[in-house]
Amino acid sequence: MTLIRSEIVGFGHCLPQKVLTNDDLSHMVDTNDEWIRTRTGICTRHISEGETTSDISFKAAQMALKSASMTAQDLDMIIVATVTPDNTTPTVAAKLSKRLEAKYGAICMDISAACSGFVYALTVVDNMIRLGQIKTALVIGAETLSNIVDWTDRNTCVLFGDGAGAAIVRATQGNGTAEDTGILATKLYADGSHYDNLIINGGVSTTRTAGYVTMDGKEVFKFAVNALSQAAETVMEMAGVSSKDVDFVIPHQANIRIIEGVGKKLNLPEEKVIVTVDHHGNTSAASIPLALSENYHAGRLKKGDLVVLTAMGAGFTWGGALVRI
Ligand code: COA
Repeated sequence: MTLIRSEIVGFGHCLPQKVLTNDDLSHMVDTNDEWIRTRTGICTRHISEGETTSDISFKAAQMALKSASMTAQDLDMIIVATVTPDNTTPTVAAKLSKRLEAKYGAICMDISAACSGFVYALTVVDNMIRLGQIKTALVIGAETLSNIVDWTDRNTCVLFGDGAGAAIVRATQGNGTAEDTGILATKLYADGSHYDNLIINGGVSTTRTAGYVTMDGKEVFKFAVNALSQAAETVMEMAGVSSKDVDFVIPHQANIRIIEGVGKKLNLPEEKVIVTVDHHGNTSAASIPLALSENYHAGRLKKGDLVVLTAMGAGFTWGGALVRI
């Protein structure tokens, strides 16, 4: 049986130049390198100095297009997962369409699902491709979270970073087995009863400001390990594979203890669990595509590898995707 699938054919990323260390943070709030490393696994993060979310997205997109040997003229759709857009409207996707000189009619949309944003966007694109509505899409996760971090709050300011990751996704043919190249399964979830547990506490129709990140860290932590594992297990089950068949898992990069917890629950050895939180911090929607691109271009992720992506964020939202690169 032949069927339409979507495959990822290019990866790109961009990190702002400025690196903020834990020691730098210890001069800003009452914290220290030891606390941050042991409780979160974070050593450094990149911070934008005036670069907007669309600026770093643009660079990530150019790199992804080059890696796919394509131009923006090949794109039928641009989708950007972000909670830190340049403007309330239009979308970051529309700004990229202008800067990349995408073709007339290419669909533009942003998607707001916090740290699950990239997996949500990938799922939308996978479904549109399999329905034959589009053939090629640019999928981006990008954030300048430094703009919505309260730099006087030690509970949150040590956790986050800025960055953008991009993937080019295009239609291909498969035979419906787990040997196919491309996106083999996706599954999304949400539970709005946790609306207040992790929130950027401003907004157009409430405070008319962007607000700052606040959260119940312990509640998020507990929920995250289960949600990330559940999404990963579900997509493997949907495709009829087990964790033994998987080459890598890329969990959302929020905290090394959450990532290790997920690896244990999935019975995966350490070397199969990709970690970038140490040098990226939590970059929300950018965390998974940044990890994908960085590891692909470093040669660690290779064509043919079976990779589980699993993410969880504000909402709560969560979800997974199983991809053969
Ligand atoms: N430096 C030093 N001390 C800090 C600190 C910092 N940056 N931040 C908090 N503390 C203090 C607290 O004030 C608390 O002190 P107290 O016991 O005197 O009240 C103590 O450290 C312990 O805090 P606690 O909240 O118990 O730490 P924790 O082990 O739960 O770790 C998080 C806190 C935020 C790192 C952890 O809960 C977490 O990672 N949660 C998930 C958050 C997340 O990933 N959110 C985004 C998901 S998409």
